[in-house]
Amino acid sequence: MISTSSTLYFLTVLGSVVALGPAAVNLRTAANYAILAKAGVSTLPPSVITGNVAVSPISALGLTNFSLALDGTGQFSTSTQVIGKVFAASYAPTTPATLSVAVGDMGTAFTDATGRVSPNFMNLGSGAIGGLVLTPGLYKWTSAVTIGSNVTIIGGAADTWIFQVTGTLSIGAGQKVVLAGGALSSNIVWVVTGAVSAAAGAHLEGVILGQTSITLLTGATANSRLLAQTSVVLQKATVTN
Ligand SMILES: *[C@@H]1O[C@H](CO)[C@@H](O)[C@H](O)[C@H]1NC(C)=O
Ligand SMILES: *[C@@H]1O[C@H](CO)[C@@H](O)[C@H](O)[C@H]1NC(C)=O
Repeated sequence: MISTSSTLYFLTVLGSVVALGPAAVNLRTAANYAILAKAGVSTLPPSVITGNVAVSPISALGLTNFSLALDGTGQFSTSTQVIGKVFAASYAPTTPATLSVAVGDMGTAFTDATGRVSPNFMNLGSGAIGGLVLTPGLYKWTSAVTIGSNVTIIGGAADTWIFQVTGTLSIGAGQKVVLAGGALSSNIVWVVTGAVSAAAGAHLEGVILGQTSITLLTGATANSRLLAQTSVVLQKATVTN
């Protein structure tokens, strides 16, 4: 499998128009948010989020430490920690309906990504993927996945990756997901059944579809969308989408 994939990747580098990897996961309107969570988003200031933040079905009470300033329309708030808008299910119409659709789309994307079959790579590294170089494809782990040293995702700008993790996903302090060869964060999906956590100073790349929580500890950064079916916890974290 690995050699086949490497050969195909080589062809792409030589100019093939064929994009490698699984069909893209359609996020639909969930793609309008850098962070979308059903049960809440908290920040230990100062975090820096580039993109919109939303919680639904929980009300704005699920937004902790954003020092929100409600817009005159009542439809969104602003925060010095967010370069974008902040939405909650308790805001004025049409925000609740829009968020309800987005949360549904997040669930549909999770179901799509987690339901993909016939992985190219199964339980690679027994879940310890630090130091590995990951070519395009569908990866599945029936365990936790830990990133204990830098991991590299290599491929072209049209190539795709889906990482299915049935356990937790954690990246160690100061460790990084590094992109190479033109690979784009938006073409990478981590679909994780357990909790996702990034230790202090770690760096993540790719869309995260979490069935539970996503936590970024002190100074962690993510070039990502964080789409969580429970909550997102940020500690002086940077999320850029
Ligand atoms: C909210 O901010 C305060 C003051 O910075 C901090 O002590 C507290 O831990 C924060 N809460 C959360 C949930 O991060
Ligand atoms: C991990 O990746 C970062 C960013 O590319 C790099 O600065 C750092 O040196 C890498 N760490 C190691 C141990 O290779």
